[in-house]
Amino acid sequence: MSKEAKTYGELARNITFYEKWARAEGIPIYDGFYVESLAELELGTWDKMGGNGCFLHLKGGEESTNSYVCEIEPAKNLKPEKHMYEELILIIQGKGATSIWNEGLPRQTFEWQEGSLFAIPLNVWHQHFNGQCDKPARFVGTTNAPITMNLYHNLDYIFDNDFIFNDRYNGEQGYFNGSGKFYDIEGLSVKCWETNFIPNVNLFKTYELKERGGGGSSVIFEMANGTMASHISEFAVGCYKKAHRHGPGANIIMLRGEGYSLMWLGDEERIMIPWRAGCLFVPPGGWFHQHFNTGEEPARYVALKYSGGHKNPLNKAWRSLENVKKGGDQIEYEDEAPEIGATYKRELAKKGWNSR
Ligand SMILES: [Fe+2]
Repeated sequence: MSKEAKTYGELARNITFYEKWARAEGIPIYDGFYVESLAELELGTWDKMGGNGCFLHLKGGEESTNSYVCEIEPAKNLKPEKHMYEELILIIQGKGATSIWNEGLPRQTFEWQEGSLFAIPLNVWHQHFNGQCDKPARFVGTTNAPITMNLYHNLDYIFDNDFIFNDRYNGEQGYFNGSGKFYDIEGLSVKCWETNFIPNVNLFKTYELKERGGGGSSVIFEMANGTMASHISEFAVGCYKKAHRHGPGANIIMLRGEGYSLMWLGDEERIMIPWRAGCLFVPPGGWFHQHFNTGEEPARYVALKYSGGHKNPLNKAWRSLENVKKGGDQIEYEDEAPEIGATYKRELAKKGWNSR
């Protein structure tokens, strides 16, 4: 066998360009279906970032999105960087600030705290600072790096690219001041808020979304003119939402409450994810998933997603609010398997509650 054929053979059994890059970063990589607590994950020294970090390569990411956790030591900052992939950042712990700028133009800096959510505009220089001298600051970032890295497989193109996306960020003052545009479109049941900064996802207003059930409410965010999207969902005590499915890469981060989610493909066994605030899980593409509140307060999560916005959609193939019997991707309560309700009653009973 020729040397070239042997190399090709090795590649055929090998990992993707993205995975190879991530492994070479030398920080812990967590896999599986979920992580219990972003705040408690063990991190490793991350030279490239100048802090401590880990990657989350959970099953449902399917190399559409990845997530990583990064910690900035007290009174320290990370190294500046820019990249040809989009990024959504949620602050898990601490207070600090981020500066952003385009090459050769003035910087602007904004402050954040626990619960702040923002987007780094594509290929814009950015640098994060811990604003406290006695505590670390920790955040989770969800990016579409796997897509762009695997597509272009050239790190200079990804990390050292001079192109400026003026249509995403052109030095606008107040870009991160939390102002925005509210969309309440007739015929579109989910309300949408276009902004680049949410001061605190724990407090942000949500709007009733009857179609998904569970006494639920929601709001979609469009940020930094990107293709990645995010939304908040809240659902009531003693309730569960309807099952639905869509593509991979929706990183669900529990913010409040207690309960579990079920995830399954077709007739296969259902996987149960128990959660509390700080848990992150990603439903695999095409798997049904369903969220159950067993706690004493409304449950709330934020989802950082590969796509799902209306401004720059990547696909419109999924109809996650429409009945699966009519070609959609949602299972109505009356059509769900009897074990779903039975399991919920059992889980509630463990805590002395009844289902609504
Ligand atoms: Fe979903």
